[in-house]
Amino acid sequence: MKLFNLFLTKRLYFHNLKNMPLSNHVICWYEQNKRDLPWRKTKDPYKIWLSEIILQQTRVVQGLPYYERFIRDFPTVDALASAEQEKVLKLWQGLGYYSRARNLHHAAKQIVKDFGSNFPNKYEDILSLKGIGEYTAAAISSFAFNLPHAVVDGNVFRLLARYFGIDTAINSTAGKKLFFELANEILDKNRPGDYNQAIMEFGSQKCKPSNPECESCPLQENCVASQQNRVHRLPVKLKKTKTKKLFFNYLYIHFKDSTFVRKRTEKGIWQNLYDFPLIEEDKMSSEKKILKKIRGLLNVDIETFSTTKEYKHILSHRIIYVRFWKIKVIEEPTFKNAKKIKINRLEMYPVSRLIESFLHNERLTNSL
Ligand code: ADE
Repeated sequence: MKLFNLFLTKRLYFHNLKNMPLSNHVICWYEQNKRDLPWRKTKDPYKIWLSEIILQQTRVVQGLPYYERFIRDFPTVDALASAEQEKVLKLWQGLGYYSRARNLHHAAKQIVKDFGSNFPNKYEDILSLKGIGEYTAAAISSFAFNLPHAVVDGNVFRLLARYFGIDTAINSTAGKKLFFELANEILDKNRPGDYNQAIMEFGSQKCKPSNPECESCPLQENCVASQQNRVHRLPVKLKKTKTKKLFFNYLYIHFKDSTFVRKRTEKGIWQNLYDFPLIEEDKMSSEKKILKKIRGLLNVDIETFSTTKEYKHILSHRIIYVRFWKIKVIEEPTFKNAKKIKINRLEMYPVSRLIESFLHNERLTNSL
């Protein structure tokens, strides 16, 4: 509690003495309103871990089929650890941020090697696994082992900021520390697993970012933001740094019934995924300029070509504007880093969401 100012300390004290604690309210609400989700019916840390990593990437409804497929294909840590990385990436396809899938695979191997295939049951050991940060370690250790570690995800930040009327930015160093300490202070130490599920569910279903259901909220009476009419102004978040723009030109070559793909070996979000030969630029160039570069790269005559609409791929710090150049050639071009594959084999390869979306549209129009 070192960090709390007098006001917060007083509120917490008042809140615990005079009222049913926040934790009781949210657990009570949760028991009556929780969604029926498969990872809530298991204590298997492996399955809980899978669900948490998937849910960091997508919403519950979209994440459910991914969870089912992962459990079906890799029912145990051993099964995941011994899988080919390409199979893991393929199963992850469509979720984006493939580093999460690579980390999942890496951590499964860590568990086999360092923990004899038994999922670790101590917070610090769980935290030592690749891709597992404080949030995920708290979620797994409380859901699977009932250890007293509070989860602090976006839902919890929002609920606490509003309930206690805190306007310290949730993404500032001071804010992270403050909310982390507060969350652990109010954690129900007797039922940390239920409490953590409950507060996240309450945050996502009731104390929503927009249109929160304050009128029927069991916390409203003691909610500072509600009393002060500040619900929509909390939580406070610092603005992000400017995003960088990139311009990609992908070459979707047709040579007889083949095309060319390359495995992205360079570090980054698309590491070990496949894409097409690429001309990358930091500014938007004219078609004429790009075409000149393409001719230089191919070294064979272009029979026909067309370009697609511009795709926009938004990442946390970058916006990538992408054009696909569909190029038909009669002679075989040689690429240093790309390999020739049959076009109808394309869907066997793990690809980014962007490429997937392009191929999907291609199948629809089936042009060229
Ligand atoms: N989001 C993150 N973890 C979750 C969980 N266990 N249930 C529902 N949504 C979640």
